[in-house]
Amino acid sequence: MPKQFSIAQKFTPDARAVLHEGDCLDMLRAIPNEAIQLIVTSPPYNLGKEYEAKLHVDVYVEEQRKVITECFRVLADGGSICWQVGNFVEDGAIIPIDTLLYPIFSGLGLKMRNRIVWHFEHGLHCSRRLSGRYETIIWFTKGDKYVFNVDPIRVPQKYPGKKYFRGPKVGQYSCNPLGKNPGDVWTVPNVKSNHVEKTGHPCQFPVELIERLVLSLTQVNDWVLDPFLGTGTSIIAAIRNGRRGVGAEILRKYIELAKTRINLAANGELPVRPMAKPVFDPKYAGKNLLTAPWLVDDTLPEQSILLEKTTPYRIRK
Ligand SMILES: C[S@@+](CC[C@H](N)C(=O)[O-])C[C@H]1O[C@@H](n2cnc3c(N)ncnc32)[C@H](O)[C@@H]1O
Repeated sequence: MPKQFSIAQKFTPDARAVLHEGDCLDMLRAIPNEAIQLIVTSPPYNLGKEYEAKLHVDVYVEEQRKVITECFRVLADGGSICWQVGNFVEDGAIIPIDTLLYPIFSGLGLKMRNRIVWHFEHGLHCSRRLSGRYETIIWFTKGDKYVFNVDPIRVPQKYPGKKYFRGPKVGQYSCNPLGKNPGDVWTVPNVKSNHVEKTGHPCQFPVELIERLVLSLTQVNDWVLDPFLGTGTSIIAAIRNGRRGVGAEILRKYIELAKTRINLAANGELPVRPMAKPVFDPKYAGKNLLTAPWLVDDTLPEQSILLEKTTPYRIRK
């Protein structure tokens, strides 16, 4: 059994982690103005999952407005809000949730700094539209003097040997030896069944996704808040990096999962996919199943014809 880490049930400024079982608005109302440096969350998407009633889109937006407005009140000057969302699906049509929520954030005077595309490779296979393989994180700041440290989240340079070819630095290496800015398209594996962090929750954040935000948008000991906490990932990303975490969750079974995971994380025992780990490459890993059967077997004439039309190489017979 891991040692019990102290998790408070109510917000107090000197706690390390606070887990509120219940509605996020009740949690937010108990937090003083401007106490929080980073608010990061993935709200329910109104898809009728077990933890949400499917609402009319206007009602959904109004519910979100209440939460976002309270988040704005507790957010410190120079702090950030990151809302991670995908799409509603209505009669087969998609509605990007960030487009619906943008006016709420901007109406509060928050400034958007990035619309980060979170690209992943696994999900539902669609038959009447292209399969969705990204969601977004809309990042807003309160004020212009905001915390942003890119160094802890730099990624390896593509061409580290590149040199200046003219000007006063000609011949010197031109790139930053700490790595490059990761840009606003992040490929991070989503938490599906083979992911080391997978629990019973249907839509968990990967820890590494939130760690990028925690490391770049907060300082040690700052508060990170997640109003829709699920399995506790945002608190985990915070405490793994010396920050404090607070969140609310309505379902008891996810509160229990969050407690267990936070305790494991505090003891350094939670299995986590590390931030710098490259995305799995089946070819590089020598996976079998890489040979397409229709390239060696001509019992599939229709597929072969299709491939002959679309591939630049000859089909083996
Ligand atoms: C999209 S999931 C978030 C999962 C989370 N990012 C994680 O890593 O596990 C949304 C969560 O919000 C919870 N929830 C829904 N309405 C809530 C409310 N009003 N207050 C607090 N939690 C709520 C749901 O039970 C669900 O677990």
